[in-house]
Amino acid sequence: MLDDNFIARARAVLRLNDTGEFTKPSPRQYPHQWNWDSAFIALGLAQFDLPRAFAEVRALLRAQWRDGMVPHIIYPTGASDYFPPPEFWQTENLARAGDIPSSALTQPPILSTIVRMIQNNSQFAIHNSELRTLRANYEFSQLLAWHRWLHTARDADGTGLPCLIHPWESGMDNSPLWADALDRITPENLPPFQRRDTIHVAADERPRAPDYERFVYLIDCGRRLHWEPRALLEQMPFLVQDVLFCSILHRADEDLCALARELGEDTREIDGWLARTREIFDARFWDDARGLYLDYDVRAQSPIRVNANATFAPLFAGLASPDQAARLVAEHFENPREYAPGADSKFYLPSVAKNEPGYAPRRYWCGPVWIQMNWIIAEGLRRYGFIKQADAVVHDSLALVAQNDFREYYDPRDGSGCGAVDFSWSAALTLEMIASENLAANDANERA
Ligand code: GLC
Repeated sequence: MLDDNFIARARAVLRLNDTGEFTKPSPRQYPHQWNWDSAFIALGLAQFDLPRAFAEVRALLRAQWRDGMVPHIIYPTGASDYFPPPEFWQTENLARAGDIPSSALTQPPILSTIVRMIQNNSQFAIHNSELRTLRANYEFSQLLAWHRWLHTARDADGTGLPCLIHPWESGMDNSPLWADALDRITPENLPPFQRRDTIHVAADERPRAPDYERFVYLIDCGRRLHWEPRALLEQMPFLVQDVLFCSILHRADEDLCALARELGEDTREIDGWLARTREIFDARFWDDARGLYLDYDVRAQSPIRVNANATFAPLFAGLASPDQAARLVAEHFENPREYAPGADSKFYLPSVAKNEPGYAPRRYWCGPVWIQMNWIIAEGLRRYGFIKQADAVVHDSLALVAQNDFREYYDPRDGSGCGAVDFSWSAALTLEMIASENLAANDANERA
């Protein structure tokens, strides 16, 4: 199934989307640079072109704002037929913005974890250790500044858990997680805009119009507040603490701390973030009655009672106790009414539990399988020793891409591809998953 031709095809997708400076998520639907896409892409590139992987990371960090934020969309090549265009964010005259046109939002900060993984995977390839240290030092201070910004500029309640001010920051744009919070918002005086995301992809696989209007309305709210962090925390109508985002940040803090130790840097500030998150995480997110991690709506001051597959992300971060992990697996992962394949689905893992009212198996973040979520969840399961379950997720992910090519997301009922075609992170993480499988097989052979 996964022969050399298939690996060549995955590499070809990354080459196709390579602008020379950065790699687009897909050829037409996403013609600019996206934050966590570039991180996943770098991990795939590192399998066959290490200098290009480093360049991808550098291109992303070059867009960092002066205040530390790393933006979610970066427009190094200017406008295109994509909405929103760079000027829509109104960041040109902001002292805290960066030099490259960008959005004014951020995205899940997985970059430190990826940088460390690339460093570990490629230790043998990087012969010149002096050069390696130089590069790492430069990246380290930028990564540290981004994490510091998340733990402070986005801290609404003194916990250090960052708040998201727009669903796009979660990376799960129209998840049913945001339905109630968005329902409370009435978009007033909506600026004129024209949606472009349904030009290349069927409308029933994209967010519904009322969601999209609220996405645009929230951008307008941010612009009116000049994207000033304090004002955003006080006034944005959408303000949530998200399990996926906070888990990724905690894991990234761990990895940043490891990088700091390697470089002989002081780790006290990072140690402080790690300790604070561990202290508050359960109280904020764990629902003991349901055995699930739930997001928290800071504006409404209440948990968001939606079961999305982000609930498994604390495994990736090592934030669950062995008991919590066992409950997540037994009651949810292996439950055919929620995530496990059964009569109504064939592949791990629907992005939303199948028995949720908002579940829609072809609509973007409302149910389809996403390869990067599968990768995060498989890594988490492995971390807790659920090897059989992690293998099942990797197996299904590879089956999906092998049967239906590198699509943006997949219908869990029959595996058919949805959304954008030639999708970069699906190709990049395929390369990573195949390489990890080969490594594990070699290790097993050596032990035998
Ligand atoms: C969509 C996804 C987001 C991704 C971006 C580019 O907005 O929801 O997670 O980063 O597309 O692929």
